[in-house]
Amino acid sequence: MSLTEITLADLNPVAFIKDQCDAIAATVGGGIAVNALSGGVDSSAVTMLAHRALGSRLKTFFVDNGIMREGEPQRVVNILRQCGAAVELVDARDEFFDALKGKTDPEVKRQAITDTFYKAVFSRLVKQSGARHLLQGTIYTDVEETVAGIKRQHNILAQLGIDTAKEYGYTVIEPLIQLRKPAVRVVAKALGLPEEIYNRPPFPGPALVARVIGEATRERIALVRKATVVLEEVLAGVQAFQYMAILHNDRIPGMRDGKRDYGFQIEVRCWDSKDAVSATPTRLPFEVLEKLADRMTSEVPGVVSVTYNIASKPPSTMEAV
Ligand code: XMP
Repeated sequence: MSLTEITLADLNPVAFIKDQCDAIAATVGGGIAVNALSGGVDSSAVTMLAHRALGSRLKTFFVDNGIMREGEPQRVVNILRQCGAAVELVDARDEFFDALKGKTDPEVKRQAITDTFYKAVFSRLVKQSGARHLLQGTIYTDVEETVAGIKRQHNILAQLGIDTAKEYGYTVIEPLIQLRKPAVRVVAKALGLPEEIYNRPPFPGPALVARVIGEATRERIALVRKATVVLEEVLAGVQAFQYMAILHNDRIPGMRDGKRDYGFQIEVRCWDSKDAVSATPTRLPFEVLEKLADRMTSEVPGVVSVTYNIASKPPSTMEAV
């Protein structure tokens, strides 16, 4: 790999931001560039860098796929707009739920989300924009994982189904490619992004679909979204790498108001981890677990069972899907 990492110790965020803004401005010239904002620290930092470099010649899209956490699309768009970036919120919820219809296998669900985003929605937005440059938040770790064969390659053009030979002149700009995540967080802070963005805990690309076992319908996503609100409120002060609420596929008997209630089960996972490669369940106090159970069963309609995962990764994975 010929790429050189800029380590956290070597990073001068002010100089880095200036260098990258100059490079983006030089590459794009008088043209237009586009990028997709997800609300994660990488895509938010890229949005701010390109906004500084290009101003109104940057078109940023936030695609609402319908599977994000409560209020997330509007919250992220508002934050970036407050930071000065012009972000267009694109409602693609129907397309994503249509693509997820009838799908239960975890990998098939993930593929449906990837295909809908790249092949259907984002490729349409890129074509309509008239841009000849795409900005992407690829980081150094992504490149390492690609070279090691852990993840498929990150070339967005191939994912968009664009033939680079035919689409001669189209360039991908990856301003963060020499940084690892801790360095990206420093740059994001120096770009003026708020802590809620630069210190964001990890959240998976397939969003709440990773937390629904079986078919991810609108109704089932709505249920796990509500459970996630409760979970994030109860565990807010807990020092953990990541926590999640998972909706199981099976319904099970419960009782409410003296009657049988055939209801839903929510599994809670809370992980201690350094790098997500291995993880152990956080030793949550029992009172916290009881609070989770009380609130989930009273505030999330139909939930009759709440369990806490006590298995480590491996052999578990952190997400359920
Ligand atoms: P697993 O479930 O593989 O998760 O133990 C490890 C870490 O990766 C996150 N994760 C994902 N992130 N797209 C993402 O952007 C994905 O498809 C995906 N799957 C898992 C997970 O949240 C955890 O932090």
